[in-house]
Amino acid sequence: MHRVAVVANHVAGKDTLTVTDNRSGKSIEVKIKDSTIPATDFKTFGLKTYDPGYMGTICCTSKVSFIDGGKGILRYRGIPIEQLAEKSTYPEVSFLLTYGELPTKDQLVRWEKDLMRHAVVNADLEALIKTFRYNAHPVGMLVSIMAAMGTLYPESNPALAGQGIYKDRGVRNKEVLRIIGSATTVSAMCYRHRMGLPFIQPNPDLGYTENFLYMMDCGHEGPSYKPNPVLVQALDILFMLHAEHELNCSTSAMRHLASSNVDVYTAASAATGALYGPRHGGANEAVLRMLVKIGSVDKIPEFIKNVKEGKEKLMGFGHRVYKNFDPRAKIVRTICDKVFAVTGKEPLLDVAMELEKIALSDEYFIKRKLYPNVDFYSGLIYKAMGFPTDMFTVLFAIPRFSGWLAHWQEWTTDPENRIYRPFQNYQGYGERAYDAAKSATPVGGDATAYARGSFERRRDVSLSDMGKTYK
Ligand SMILES: CC(C)(COP(=O)(O)OP(=O)(O)OC[C@H]1O[C@@H](n2cnc3c(N)ncnc32)[C@H](O)[C@@H]1OP(=O)(O)O)[C@@H](O)C(=O)NCCC(=O)NCCS
Repeated sequence: MHRVAVVANHVAGKDTLTVTDNRSGKSIEVKIKDSTIPATDFKTFGLKTYDPGYMGTICCTSKVSFIDGGKGILRYRGIPIEQLAEKSTYPEVSFLLTYGELPTKDQLVRWEKDLMRHAVVNADLEALIKTFRYNAHPVGMLVSIMAAMGTLYPESNPALAGQGIYKDRGVRNKEVLRIIGSATTVSAMCYRHRMGLPFIQPNPDLGYTENFLYMMDCGHEGPSYKPNPVLVQALDILFMLHAEHELNCSTSAMRHLASSNVDVYTAASAATGALYGPRHGGANEAVLRMLVKIGSVDKIPEFIKNVKEGKEKLMGFGHRVYKNFDPRAKIVRTICDKVFAVTGKEPLLDVAMELEKIALSDEYFIKRKLYPNVDFYSGLIYKAMGFPTDMFTVLFAIPRFSGWLAHWQEWTTDPENRIYRPFQNYQGYGERAYDAAKSATPVGGDATAYARGSFERRRDVSLSDMGKTYK
């Protein structure tokens, strides 16, 4: 039953909605600004808007990036992602996201130097990384390291140094440099800890991405080790493509934490955690595991059948915003060839290409507007470059710190900022007395099943099996 009638008035100079509550006949006129209406206006009717998954809710004003999902457009600070991928570098893009404009030559030199200065991390973090199990997932390590970094800088923690501390641009700038600067170092350390290799200190003579590969792979060659320039450039482009994507799950998490005025490291740690999920940044890892599981082109029809029956998900396909090609996925495809020319072709590429071909011509995917997203091919590139599957989401997180921090700064200086606090539609018990609830022992239901031991689980993955995934 329609209880609230809504009429949009497009009369010139009168951008409003007329909303009538059909229960009472009461009407209000709601202002339309930038294609949005204030949700709080509905308080007049004692109503709130219901939006699980935020399918139609705008919760902030932002200038960092723009996406038109229908047209497949992504721009950072107004600049199309295709042009950045072709002409820019990741450090330049991180400057653009941080300060809003492309740097001059001198500004970029200073930015790159500052990032490299901050690539040297506190020895306590090295000690912390060494405490993890040999097979700890690197994202779990990164989440912990980010939170731990916050403990090293109490003088810029709002809980300790005062709630207004982040109003100081200098304080924010320092935090941005510390996090972006050290992201590569701690990530490489996580990898080397897993591999049982000694940590490599940053080489200030190298560029940001080049130094990351150096810290990952340097062996007996010492400081003379130079990563392959084609691979450096490919990874640098991937870093640019992954740097920012407006209010996705992890960026929203960053803003959510920031809204409590917690220290930026705890917020970045939470954002990294959100990224880890296979519906989000963990999809690149999930795509590779899916391709390995399918194994060969002849198994694809059966896999697609399972997807259509809802038994599987085609990982690396679909997007909340893009209902057209993800522009980043198109660029990633072009990088594949350059990387494979150096590394040799990744055998799973054939499976991926055939999977894409079949999915793009299948009614199920066409009807739902499911296209390959950025994660569909990136995992194959990472694999060809020699990264273990578990590291893929870390490779996503390293550049995404720039985007998260741009949003953190934007939130911090937003005059409209408020603590994030959504409401719920409570459908649980009404008030009931403790004694009455205690005596009315439920028959069946979760509590009974629990008491019967129905929820008990044995560990079915041995540690050695988990270690094997880390190749
Ligand atoms: C990204 C994602 C979470 C978006 O979710 P969403 O916006 O909530 O979209 P929905 O889950 O409502 O999907 C709409 C429909 O498409 C289907 N669908 C979405 N993604 C699918 C996929 N990857 N494989 C198979 N079906 C998919 C859903 O089952 C749903 O079908 P229905 O209408 O019959 O119920 C989802 O597409 C997904 O899980 N993709 C795979 C993970 C991935 O690659 N993530 C990386 C994103 S960059």
